[in-house]
Amino acid sequence: MRIELVTGDITVERVDAIVNAANSSLLGGGGVDGAIHRKGGPAILNECRDLRASRYGRGLPVGQAVATTAGRLSARWVIHTVGPVFSEDEDRSPLLRSCYTASLAIAASLGARSIAYPLISSGVYRWPKEDAVAQALAALHGEPTTVELIRLVLFDEQTRQIAERVHRDSDADQ
Ligand code: APR
Repeated sequence: MRIELVTGDITVERVDAIVNAANSSLLGGGGVDGAIHRKGGPAILNECRDLRASRYGRGLPVGQAVATTAGRLSARWVIHTVGPVFSEDEDRSPLLRSCYTASLAIAASLGARSIAYPLISSGVYRWPKEDAVAQALAALHGEPTTVELIRLVLFDEQTRQIAERVHRDSDADQ
């Protein structure tokens, strides 16, 4: 499995599974969530509504993940996961790492060979970008999986530079 860092819009990534930085309602929002629903179309939201009417009546818990169709996106699946809101007082990093590993496990179970992640929790949920990258890489490095390509899609060049630096430093620590 290899991990790539790229800059761009995750909705145009040509991978088998695209991870959505959702909220527990699974009924859409802004940021990545808004972009995926807007470009993927109503089929995604319809499946999310079905999930809320069945397995996730109380919403998708933080740190967990669930797959739906990708609708009009070029991917085959969208894997929705709910990141923790950043807290100064409480270490929620295990929940953030769980978003990455739970999504990866679902992707593998579906037979996905490639997966694209946004930088979960680093937008509306205010997680500092540098640590958000560190948590993503800590969760994914060395995680046994049949998924061959993992792509971390950063939305802007500045965030990509941060990610590259964190990635270099984490390689140096290996
Ligand atoms: N492609 C890639 N990255 C994106 C895109 C995109 N199209 N749009 C935003 N981002 C980046 C943001 O810049 C940020 O770095 O994704 C990261 C995650 O930001 P958010 O989408 O705000 O997600 P998050 O911080 O996890 O907050 C989730 O926001 O949109 C709502 O419904 C969502 O309530 C949930 C909350």
